Order: sequence, then structure tokens, then C-alpha cells
Amino acid sequence: MKLWAGRFQKETDTLVNDFNSSIGFDARLYQQDIRGSIAHAAMLGKQGIIEEHEAEKIIEGLKAILADIEDGKVEFSMDNEDIHMNIEAMLTQRIGDAGKRLHTARSRNDQVAVDTRLYVKEEIPAIIKQVLDLEQVLVKKAEANLDTVMPGYTHLQRAQPTTFAHYMMAYANMFKRDVTRLEDCLARLDECPLGAGALATSTYPVDRFQTAHALGFHKPTDNSMDSVSDRDYAIELMADLSILMMHLSRFSEEIVLWCSWEFKYVDLDDAYSTGSSIMPQKKNPDVAELVRGKTGRVYGALVTLLTMMKSLPLAYNKDMQEDKEAIFDAIDTVELCLPVFAAMVDTLTVRPKNMAKAAAGGFINATDCADYLTKKGLPFREAYMIVGRLVNMCIKSGDTLDTLTLKDFRAISSLFDEDVYDALALKTCVNERKVYGGPAKESVQKQIELIRQFVGEHTK
Ligand code: ARG
Repeated sequence: MKLWAGRFQKETDTLVNDFNSSIGFDARLYQQDIRGSIAHAAMLGKQGIIEEHEAEKIIEGLKAILADIEDGKVEFSMDNEDIHMNIEAMLTQRIGDAGKRLHTARSRNDQVAVDTRLYVKEEIPAIIKQVLDLEQVLVKKAEANLDTVMPGYTHLQRAQPTTFAHYMMAYANMFKRDVTRLEDCLARLDECPLGAGALATSTYPVDRFQTAHALGFHKPTDNSMDSVSDRDYAIELMADLSILMMHLSRFSEEIVLWCSWEFKYVDLDDAYSTGSSIMPQKKNPDVAELVRGKTGRVYGALVTLLTMMKSLPLAYNKDMQEDKEAIFDAIDTVELCLPVFAAMVDTLTVRPKNMAKAAAGGFINATDCADYLTKKGLPFREAYMIVGRLVNMCIKSGDTLDTLTLKDFRAISSLFDEDVYDALALKTCVNERKVYGGPAKESVQKQIELIRQFVGEHTK
């Protein structure tokens, strides 16, 4: 028999029963649900809304249910629709009438809102920790490769020289922003909806500050209608996780490219690669590809929630039950990707010779050549034109700028001298870029220091 049978003259159709039920996925919130109920029962007792001894009985009963769920002794039922009703039914079955008083001054609307917030409040710090672990891997890789010159690209065309360390720190800065975004989200969602009831609180002297603090929230939410109909925090989290996955996916794409024989900038460890069932020579970057592929699921979760909430009138609507699978899947996906990605980067081998070879072949010192002439007094635009002609000459003859003879250089501009070779050496090109944020060793060391400091400050 349904809880609401009093109002109804017919049984729920079995199709509707199953359709309506969320226990199949929200069972996962059992621990948060019980914590929320314990806080609520304690408050009801303290406020004299129910007898203290009843509150105690409820709390003991809930603790026993929690232990039994954790021991795998509990089976949830579809007939009880969701985790909230399953636990309440179980409680009443175990402790009798006192169990029926737990739902005083509460609704499943504030209950599910508090459960979900409690859930993400635990997961966000776990994700932050994983991102910080990845940061440490990037710092390690960067430190070992401060002098590993490689081409930097624009349009995937070789552009200007950089180092593998500079490259790693570029990603480290993206992940740093991801951490701060997640922290912002956490700070904003740190308000407790419990006590909002169905939408308009209740006529009992409910103490929402007590339950908020008991559950570790900073404060209760300020408006009860908003409390039960707000899923902004979940949308914000999905957006943050989407951006994080976008960063992982860009990085994955580079790793896939770098592993190819066309690049061979890095070798993945055998333990982080896979073979082919037919082609004996293959060693595939499946981990990077899967991370890239899984990005779509997380974007999907964001779009699911945005669309679910679009045009919903206040306050609670059943549409909102659809939030949980998306939230769980996005969080699970991110938590699955981060550690394996970090381990893959940690164990990859850098091939500095191949990077240097690619850097030497792509005219990535052309800007430096123009700068050389500019430093000798030529306006940059004129210098740019001259170097363009030199590059064109090289392409025809199969040369690079540094294999041209001084005579070749001088045929185009008399400003060229013997010191041009030094100016065009890739090491010089990198190490002269000492600007804050640049690829020179000392600049990258500064970047590493900043990331390391950030990791230190954010690891509690
Ligand atoms: N299972 C529901 C959900 O996840 C709980 C809230 C149900 N409230 C209601 N009025 N039907 O959203």
C-alpha cells in the first residue's frame, strides 16, 4: 500500500510504479539520506516537536539501518519509489510508531535537495585532490624537461620554439583554474535546504540553523521555494567538470599525436598502452583516447541538467528527479579519468631528440631572425619581409635558416653578421624569451614554483 493511499481510490499502475521509481539509482544516496534524517530527528526532539525519547529511537533505528546497508543486508524495493521512502518505510517497520514521526515538518523535496548537496560536497574535494595529484605529476615532468626544446604550434603548424616544461606548465595552469572553479562551486553550495519542506517551510518551530550546522553546512538557504527548486549548484558543477574534461581532452589529443610515428615526441609506458588484435606492430594510446571520448558524457550531463531545468516553474517538479543519474555519471567519469590520466603522463618517456629535430626543421626561429634584424635597427615589418624571402629561398633549396651561409644571408641583407647563427640557435631562441610566463628556463622555473605553491596551499 502506498503512503498516499488515503487520497486515492486505485492502486498505482505497475508501469507507472516502475516509471516513477528512482530507487534504482538514488539508493546511492543512502548515507546522505540517513545523515539528513538524523539531523532532522535530533532537531525535532530538541525543539519539542516530537518527544526526545522518540527522536533517540529514530536516530538509533537509522544508525542500525545504515550499518545493515553497509553490510549488504538490505534490499530496497521499487514499491517504495525512492531512497527516502525506502528508508522511512524500513524505519517504521523496525521501530514502529516513532518512525512515522520522522517526516514531521519535512518533505522529500527538501530531503532530496539536502542529500544531493551533501553528496556533491563530499565528491568535490575528492576531485580537487585528484587534480592536485595531476598537478604534481606535471611539475615533476616540467622539472625534468626545462631544457627539452620542442616546437610550439599555432594552427598545428610549427610556430615558435618552446620547451616540454613550458608545455606542461600550460596545462598545469588550466588545471589550477579548474581547482579554483570547483572551490568556488563548493563555497556557493554550502547552504542547507533542509527545513524548507515541500516549498513553504512549516508551522512547527523548526530550527534550520541547527540542522544546517549539524550537517556541516555554513548556513541554511535563505528562501524555501528556491531551496527546493534550485539545481544551480549541480549545473555549475557539471559546467566545471565539463571544462576540466575539455582540458583533459585537449591534453589527450596532444598525447595521441605525440605518440604517432609522425611525431614520436613521447613513448607511453607499456602498462598504459594497448595492442591490436590483428596488427602485431601496434601500440595504441587507448587511455588518452578514452579520456577524450568520455568528455562527451560529461558535457552530456551539463546539457541534461540545463535542459531539464529550462522553463520549470517554481517550485519542485518531478522532472528534477532526472538530475541524479547525470550528476553521478559525470562525477564517476571524472574520478575515473583523472588518476589514470595522471599515471599515464607520469610514466611516459619524453624523446628530446625527436622534439629537437622537429624544432630545427620548421623555421620556428624565423621570428627570432626578424628580431635579430630589428635589433640592428630595421623596422620590424621590413625585417619580417626579408626573413619571409629567406624562408622562401630555404624551402626551394631544402635548407633551414641555420644552414644558410653568411653569403646567402648577406645577399638579402647586409645587416647579417656571423652572430646570426648564435641568435638562431634554438636554445638561444628559447632562453632569450625570459619574459614573465615565457619558455626560458628561469621563467618556467617561476611557473613551476607558482604551481607548487598553489598545490601546497590547496592540500589540507
Ligand atoms: N525521488 C524524488 C527526486 O529525486 C524525491 C522528491 C520527490 N518529491 C515529490 N514531491 N514527488 O526528486
